[in-house]
Amino acid sequence: MATHKLLLLPGDGIGPEVMAEVRRLVTWISQQGLATFEVEEELVGGASYDADKVAVTDATMARAMAADAVLFGAVGGPKWDAVPYDVRPEAGLLRLRKDLALFANLRPALCYPALADASSLKREIIEGLDIMIVRELTGGVYFGEPKTITELGNGQKRAVDTQVYDTYEIERIAAVAFDLARKRRNKVTSMDKRNVMKSGVLWNEVVTQVHKRDYADVALEHMLADAGGMQLVRWPKQFDVIVTDNLFGDMLSDVAAMLTGSLGMLPSASLGATDAATGKRRALYEPVHGSAPDIAGKGMANPIAMLASFAMALRYSFDMGALADSVEQAIAAVLAKGLRTADIRSEGATIVNTAQMGEAILKEVQALLK
Ligand code: IPM
Ligand code: MG
Repeated sequence: MATHKLLLLPGDGIGPEVMAEVRRLVTWISQQGLATFEVEEELVGGASYDADKVAVTDATMARAMAADAVLFGAVGGPKWDAVPYDVRPEAGLLRLRKDLALFANLRPALCYPALADASSLKREIIEGLDIMIVRELTGGVYFGEPKTITELGNGQKRAVDTQVYDTYEIERIAAVAFDLARKRRNKVTSMDKRNVMKSGVLWNEVVTQVHKRDYADVALEHMLADAGGMQLVRWPKQFDVIVTDNLFGDMLSDVAAMLTGSLGMLPSASLGATDAATGKRRALYEPVHGSAPDIAGKGMANPIAMLASFAMALRYSFDMGALADSVEQAIAAVLAKGLRTADIRSEGATIVNTAQMGEAILKEVQALLK
């Protein structure tokens, strides 16, 4: 049996609490002999800053490079609001994405039947929702240079961020979106702002070319990103795969996440290119939610997004799709039985804490695999 090298980076806030539930599942999978995991754990974000004055150390980066998959909790919190910009907690996550070249961020937004009433939208709008946002993750305004604040000498300052995309960056993310669409409902919606941005003009052109050249069998539509945001809350079920740049993807994926009832539900996968020789690709899996400092340490956090992120790791990094399906089915089953963490509480539900939710999901997985 292959040994999978897993690096856990729990981070800050609720990160360690939700990561503990992944550990529970990993331990059980290993005990059952379903897979062998070599698990390492390191600090990231504010926790790393407190220990080493950086958001991620070079040693941790080296471990991340050597891992088959990185599982990331969450970073940040008011405690680190005043630390220097370069070493703020988020810088750790951004360095991991950039140095591991994780250009493709997959953010599924799935509405579990039991949670249809937890959304702020009407049930008929989100019931059965299943969309995939494919966000470009290593380019655009997040990393473009120059990125500066300069004194103009007249009491004014000027801030500059740079939105920049090269053809190859758009080609490879478009290909990821089209490939995914083929395994789903065969439709891609590309979102950009070509009406005001040159990068949007190129985005549109390249996505159209890639489609024509290699994916003419997939339905492609283009939408301006602002209209796309509006359509996401108006009638989200019109979408299958949405492909968009780093910044729009950040915002649109938060919108999509909330459609499903709670940010605490949604996983994500950040993938690099597949190595032609080994067939492997670098990967980092993280919940879409943040560190939620207001509820950290109280055992209230919802571990579902973290566990679902681990399910994505099973599917995309470890070729264990059947086990991934079981974890996802277990999550749905536990919700159907009425178990809820506080963020998704509803009338008549049983409110449980983080560990109880994790245990219940593990029990369901065990029952499913019997
Ligand atoms: C996300 C987050 C990050 C981002 C932050 C924490 C840097 O909002 O993953 O969506 O903006 O990409
Ligand atoms: Mg975000």
